[in-house]
Amino acid sequence: MTVAQLRERLNFYRDLGVDEIYRRENVGQAISLPVIPEGVILPAAPAALPSLAPEGDTLLKIRQDIGDDCRRCRLCEGRAKIVFGSGNEQSRLVFVGEGPGADEDASGLPFVGRAGQLLTQMIENTATKEGIPIRRPDVYICNVVKCRPPENRAPQPDEMEICGQFLFRQLMAIRPKAICAMGSTAAKAVLGTKDGVTKLRGKWHKWRDIPVMVTYHPSYLLRPYNQDAKREAWEDLKKVLHFVYD
Ligand code: URA
Repeated sequence: MTVAQLRERLNFYRDLGVDEIYRRENVGQAISLPVIPEGVILPAAPAALPSLAPEGDTLLKIRQDIGDDCRRCRLCEGRAKIVFGSGNEQSRLVFVGEGPGADEDASGLPFVGRAGQLLTQMIENTATKEGIPIRRPDVYICNVVKCRPPENRAPQPDEMEICGQFLFRQLMAIRPKAICAMGSTAAKAVLGTKDGVTKLRGKWHKWRDIPVMVTYHPSYLLRPYNQDAKREAWEDLKKVLHFVYD
């Protein structure tokens, strides 16, 4: 890796809000992210970059790192509650949505409003029909951003980058067998692609070494004219549930 590439990688981590790195052999001991000035030539090839999260990271630690009054981005201004995630912390399946709506902001829990009720029905009805013994509490559900965007607008790129570090740490801490990214914001955050859901859905992709299925966001499915999308979302979910639980 060249110095320029290393600088770019470190800047990327810094943009994600990561100020410290951890070395495998020194778990829990943070090292400040180095700044490499322009023009510097390193004497030897640098060691492999550390992962984005400390080894032994836990959901509890990630939640504590976010803090009770996170002010890392503008979404804090209209937020009532931070919505971290809910469900089985050892789940083999993680669903990722976009960001909290009004009901989630008020309760502090993801997907509890109309879209959430539809998601619960989709998971539980599909599982029952397919003979897979799981209920909603058996999976883990979270969002790309943990605070409600005003007027339910889509999260902006800087908000996604800042909060994305916590999503990635959640995914790494849980290490599920598969991730289901619901909607274009989740697909963009997890896969780093600009492609839309229609193009991405129904096929397996990867985040690190974890298979990712992209499907429609439940809010989109609530719109009355989306019968085809509904059928497709059910097919996607069937695929995910069989892959994870068969
Ligand atoms: N929409 C989302 O993307 N997430 C929620 O938690 C609720 C609605």
